[in-house]
Amino acid sequence: MDIIEKLKWRYATKLFDSNKKISQKQIDTIKEAVNLTATSYGMQPFKMIIVSNQEIKEKLTEAAFGQINVSTASHVLIFAAKTNIDNDYIDSHVENLAQIRNVELNSLVSYKANIQNFIKKKSLEQLLKWASDQCYIALGNLLTVCAIEKIDACPMGGFDAEKFDEILYLKEKNLHSVVFANLGYRSEDDKYAKLNKVRRPLNEMFIEL
Ligand SMILES: Cc1cc2nc3c(=O)[nH]c(=O)nc-3n(C[C@H](O)[C@H](O)[C@H](O)COP(=O)(O)O)c2cc1C
Repeated sequence: MDIIEKLKWRYATKLFDSNKKISQKQIDTIKEAVNLTATSYGMQPFKMIIVSNQEIKEKLTEAAFGQINVSTASHVLIFAAKTNIDNDYIDSHVENLAQIRNVELNSLVSYKANIQNFIKKKSLEQLLKWASDQCYIALGNLLTVCAIEKIDACPMGGFDAEKFDEILYLKEKNLHSVVFANLGYRSEDDKYAKLNKVRRPLNEMFIEL
């Protein structure tokens, strides 16, 4: 299958076969892939929560207005924006960079000041929007990787984020749920698997200059 065939194979799975589970090896691949997502300044201002516990999945289903693709999924992956992007977090980012690339911290002073300035100028609301945007980039990356790995997925925005935060104890961790994805294997009874993709013609979508 070429990449376009793989992307056509992918669809927003509405019903999973709850007997089929994603292996830990595949979850490890997904974790690596999500960690490799491009982010603004490389700051990775989010975390991904991985839920396989059925009791928690049931609670999340309720908070996602009863959508059964949550409870039948093998794993539910929640992207949560960090709500405490402060100087300590910037310091840890720059220190990590210095260590991994084996450069002096001193050489990164203006780079760090640049990030501090970028963050300082933003209101809390703007910072949350910035961090949330990075969650969506990671979600897109996740969906493509799942398609390549032949794992079914459904991106999910229809849910009560406050309730998710409560169920997953996110506030205490300075996190706020933004978007999530259900992962697993499609049920043979999912009629959505056989529907044609609804997309605009390419000539309506792109402007080439
Ligand atoms: C940000 C986002 C939120 C979504 N929320 C939901 C959702 O709450 N429930 C659902 O069944 N599908 C949801 N979807 C799936 C879309 O409806 C689906 O991707 C779209 O109709 C295109 O279909 P396809 O992905 O099967 O090609 C969401 C997709 C995205 C990208």
